[in-house]
This record gives sequence, C-alpha cells and structure tokens, in this order.
Amino acid sequence: MKVLIVGGGGREHAIAMSVAKSPRVEKIYCAPGNAGIGQIAECVPIGAMEFEKLAAFAREKAIDFTIVGMDDPLVGGLVDVLEAEGLRVFGPRKNAAILEGSKAFSKDLMKKYNIPTAAYETFDNAEDALEYLKGADYPIVLKADGLALGKGVLICRDREEAEEGVRSIMLDKKFGSAGDRMVIEEFMTGREVSVLSFVDGKTIKIMTSAQDHKRAMDGDQGLNTGGMGTFSPSPFYTKQVDEFCRKHIYQATVDAMAAEGRPFKGVIFFGLMLTQKGPRVLEYNARFGDPEAQVVLPRMKNDIIEVMEACVDGRLDQIELEFEDNAAVCVVLASQGYPVSYEKGFLIRGLDRFDGAEGYYCFHAGTKQTDRGIVTNGGRVLGITAKGRDLKEARANAYAATEWVSFDNKYMRHDIGKAIDEA
Ligand code: AMP
Ligand code: GLY
Repeated sequence: MKVLIVGGGGREHAIAMSVAKSPRVEKIYCAPGNAGIGQIAECVPIGAMEFEKLAAFAREKAIDFTIVGMDDPLVGGLVDVLEAEGLRVFGPRKNAAILEGSKAFSKDLMKKYNIPTAAYETFDNAEDALEYLKGADYPIVLKADGLALGKGVLICRDREEAEEGVRSIMLDKKFGSAGDRMVIEEFMTGREVSVLSFVDGKTIKIMTSAQDHKRAMDGDQGLNTGGMGTFSPSPFYTKQVDEFCRKHIYQATVDAMAAEGRPFKGVIFFGLMLTQKGPRVLEYNARFGDPEAQVVLPRMKNDIIEVMEACVDGRLDQIELEFEDNAAVCVVLASQGYPVSYEKGFLIRGLDRFDGAEGYYCFHAGTKQTDRGIVTNGGRVLGITAKGRDLKEARANAYAATEWVSFDNKYMRHDIGKAIDEA
C-alpha cells in the first residue's frame, strides 16, 4: 500500500513512524514533510494548502490511502477535494471539520445536545460584545471563532482587558477573519486533559489520555505556544472521569454531528477541563494533537492503518484499541525566543544517538536537510519522547535524552510532567 501523509511537523513524524510499522505499507510519501520524516518517507515539496497539486500528486502516484494531519487543510476541505478524485482519505470532510474550524459552531452544538461546556455567548460585532462585557463576571474568556494557530483565546482579568481584547479581535483583526465572530465564555478552573479518539461516523474509540503544556516557560508562565511538552497517560484522568465523559461527552458528540448531517470520520481531540462540577469540554480539534500524538502513538499497539481504514469504512466497532501499560513523556526542544521571534539555520548535532535506542524517539518539527547536515528551521525544532514503566521513569528518560542533541539557541521547559508528582 502507498500512503500519503499531509503535514510536516512533529505530529506528522509520529504518524509516519506508526504508519511505517504497518506490514501492509510499502511506501510513504509526506507533503511537505521535514528532515526527520525524510528518513522514513519520501518528502514532496507540496504545501498542505495546495489542494489541486496534492490531488494531482496522489493520482499520479496511485496513492492508496491519504492521512491529513493538520487542521488548516481539514477545515479548508482537502478531504472533500481528494475524495472527489476517488481517493481514500483519513480525516473529516469540511462539513465535519467545522467542529474545530468554528468555536461558535462547536459551542452551539454542545448547547443544543447538552454536552457539558462553559456558558457562553456568540457575537458578530464589537458593539454588542462590548455591551455584554458591562454586566459580565471576571475573569472572562474571549475566543476568536476561526483557526488562529492556537492563539485565538484571550483570558481577561477585568473589563478593561476584555474590552481591549474585543477590539483587537473584532476591530483590529489580530487573528484575521478568524475574528469576524467571537465567543465570550465563562472562565473555568481545573486540570486540563487531552483525550484523542478515532471516529468512523457512528462509533468512537478512545485512545489513552495525555496532558499538554501550552505556556512557553516553566511554571506555566509566558506566552501560549503550540505545546512545549506532553505526558501520557494523565494520572488525573481517573476511571470516574472516564465514565462521566463516556456517558455525557464522547458518544454524544459523535451522535450530535451525525444528527446535524455532518458525520465525523477521523480523530476527535477532546480538550477537557476537570472542574469541581465535573469534566467540561474546553475545545474540540479535528485531528491528532501536537505534541499529544508524540506520546500517544508510540504507546499504541494496533496497526494504525487498520484502525484508520476501519474509520473510513465505518467498521470501527470491530476494532479494539490497545495501548502499552507504560508511560511516555515528550519534551519539546525549541529555538530560544519562540513563540515570538527566533533564529533558524543552526546545525543539530547528536541525532544519530537515537538510532536503535528502543523506547526513545526524536520527532522532528522544524528541521531542514542541508548540505551541512540537518539544521533548525522553526520555533519548535524537535520533540524528544521516551517511554518508561511509569511517568516518573519516562520523564527521567526523556530529560536524559534531551541532552543527546545540541544546537545553538536550544530552549526547553524543565518541568514537563512535574504535575504528576501531585497525583
Ligand atoms: P482552546 O484553544 O479553546 O483550548 O483554549 C486554549 C487554552 O485557553 C486552553 O487550553 C485553556 O488553558 C484556556 N481556556 C480556554 N477556555 C477556557 C475557559 N473557559 N476557562 C479557562 N481557561 C480556558
Ligand atoms: N497540543 C494542542 C493542539 O494540538 O492543539
């Protein structure tokens, strides 16, 4: 089988590594890929938003199965374009990817189908939003409706901050057209958990849990990033939490999408907050998390192609997902200055230490192959994952492995997984 993966970050590297383990796969292409993915797949210089070029490439190479890893092409309808060519594709169609593509849509869906989430209002002009802020409780949360590279959420301490936020989203268009509409919602407190699932339109199968660290600096300080590290499983995702979510959130979401005429096939990522009143949905994503995939997929025992094909064919009910009874931690090695500004092009040394090191993974995010060797090429450069018998061992292993590689301006958080000490 020939497989095409669309995307080029650490998540797609983790997907590619899982796909490469499938005995049915003879060749993997990745568009656009990166230097690490290039070691197990053939990278093709086509951007994830170049739908017609991707379709032409898939036709020309007679690709049997395409996996779309990223949010933008999913929300933009790449799956529909490829399916129209008669191709088999893993990922939600445009009318289902809206679950991630519009916060107003997902909030309205949850309200209509009684799925627990924060109370909210939707606004399509700044005046009404500013008026609403007059009588609101603080802190309060502002969310641009559309995709904003994970940065479209503002937590505002008081009315002044919130007014400034509304103006920046709706009038100054800080997040572009993503801010044509916005959601204003109740501020919640609690631990966050990421739960990924496979969905075939009707059936949902939950993967093991994980937790991300979104802020740039230790102690959850600094700006929001795409994710600085993850651990899996989350010790806070207890049996009781799982039971609640199975009863009120997971299947309810899949059924709601089907009832709306938007059957969801692919990965639903539930961003949950474990509040005192019980688990609440913070957000949905229509794809694997990055860097959640980097700790969840290495622990999955199933043949990923078999699971994904079952999703496409609507027979996920016949699959049992199996995960190793261990733990994994991923520490992101970033460029100093991320997420604001940073230099690129520094040589990365020590990558070969990972060759044959069982239970250790070096997922490439922002890297590039040059004549000099592999160099840094982004804010998040590498994701270093290690497994262990438990979270503490996995964390120690992952941090030890972060020392195997070096590059100028290497930056990482030193407290990934520290929360497990409180569990
Ligand atoms: P989202 O993109 O919706 O997941 O939001 C990004 C981050 O903002 C989340 O991971 C939370 O840390 C925070 N957040 C979002 N919504 C809320 C909320 N209603 N209350 C508190 N924090 C929130
Ligand atoms: N790690 C969070 C995300 O992928 O959206």
